[in-house]
Amino acid sequence: MLNIGKHKEPKVRRAGIVSVGKYIPEGVMTNFDIEKIVDTSDEWIRGRTGICERHFVTNGQRQSDLALNASREALARVGWTPQDLDMVIVGTVTPDHIFPSSANTLAGKLGAIGVPSFDILAACSGFMYSLHQGMVSIVSGMADRVLVVGSEVMSSIMNWQDRTTCVLFGDAAGAVLLEEVEEPYGIVDYEIGSDGRYYDLLYMPGGGSAQPATHESIDKAMHTLHMEGSETFKFAVRSMYKTATDLLKRNGVDPEDLGLFIGHQANIRIIDAVTKRLKLRDDQVYNNINKYGNTTSATIPLCIHEAEEQGMIKKGDWVVLVSFGAGLTWAGTLIKWGIDPLPSVAAAEAADAASDTYSEKLKPGRDWVKR
Ligand code: ACO
Repeated sequence: MLNIGKHKEPKVRRAGIVSVGKYIPEGVMTNFDIEKIVDTSDEWIRGRTGICERHFVTNGQRQSDLALNASREALARVGWTPQDLDMVIVGTVTPDHIFPSSANTLAGKLGAIGVPSFDILAACSGFMYSLHQGMVSIVSGMADRVLVVGSEVMSSIMNWQDRTTCVLFGDAAGAVLLEEVEEPYGIVDYEIGSDGRYYDLLYMPGGGSAQPATHESIDKAMHTLHMEGSETFKFAVRSMYKTATDLLKRNGVDPEDLGLFIGHQANIRIIDAVTKRLKLRDDQVYNNINKYGNTTSATIPLCIHEAEEQGMIKKGDWVVLVSFGAGLTWAGTLIKWGIDPLPSVAAAEAADAASDTYSEKLKPGRDWVKR
């Protein structure tokens, strides 16, 4: 539970990522499967986006379930229990419900009872905005251990008659844990911004208070994602390049010395354009859009997870994470990676199975009455 008086003498601290988890739902849809639904081709999708397949939820899995699995893995890999957390933040545009927040549901399922939990809606920048909020909470002394999640069921807001968007997205969740770390490690710098004049370049027209659900709004597919692709593309290249350049210059890091660049996975051509302008080598960039498509707020933690697992991020490396998204929004951070390789996912699963603290093992009840 967060207590403003907990840190009697607030001081500026350094926050860092100390664990990471991911969850990919089992349903797979290849480009060839999509060829059977809309007028498109594997060749077009691969060539224009870099995507080969994507995963979708099956059997009624909810966004909070994806978030739960990713969070459990992150916790198990460092041996924390949900009770060790004092804040839960979820970046998402596809919460289980408009309210309560997805983070409320996740915290309940985890058994992190009593802690502040809230969502941040910044579309594809949702994870990076959430990471920023988690960092600020630690730096200011308001929180010690924060769970930050990016989790999406994009399949719930896709228009399967619109070939310009339905080929792009996938479902998944990624989670990181933040804690105070010693300098020089951790989150060294952050850049975050928005330009709301362009809110309708990429948005969902229906479902909010401006357009509640009606028969007409459903007939017009207003409860699905609408996008002006080429304008979004140009903004993405400009904003990711500028954010990464600002972070590197401001901190005196030569792009040649960067350990790893992870950009929001929306289109491989966007990332290639940015990394080419930054003059990065292939071994300095991690992408996985080919396997998952654009999973909105989940793309960056998924990349961190896989790059860490494959030994592409090592203690002492400079790492840049950058995102852009609907809003328009953008965010980037420069991190001095400060942890040794995390235990394998299998070891984490074993620890998880042995734990008796997780939600299904907790008795449902009105524990809050006792507080
Ligand atoms: N299959 C076949 N043809 C297609 C498809 C498709 N799936 N989609 C579009 N086309 C056609 C178009 O109709 C057009 O045909 P025309 O020339 O006869 O008119 C042609 O392909 C070219 O269309 P463009 O829109 O110019 O294609 P482009 O190269 O720009 O690629 C794309 C489109 C992939 C959407 C690209 O613009 C893009 O990636 N934009 C950015 C998307 C993005 O970053 N979204 C961010 C999401 S962030 C968030 O917050 C959720």
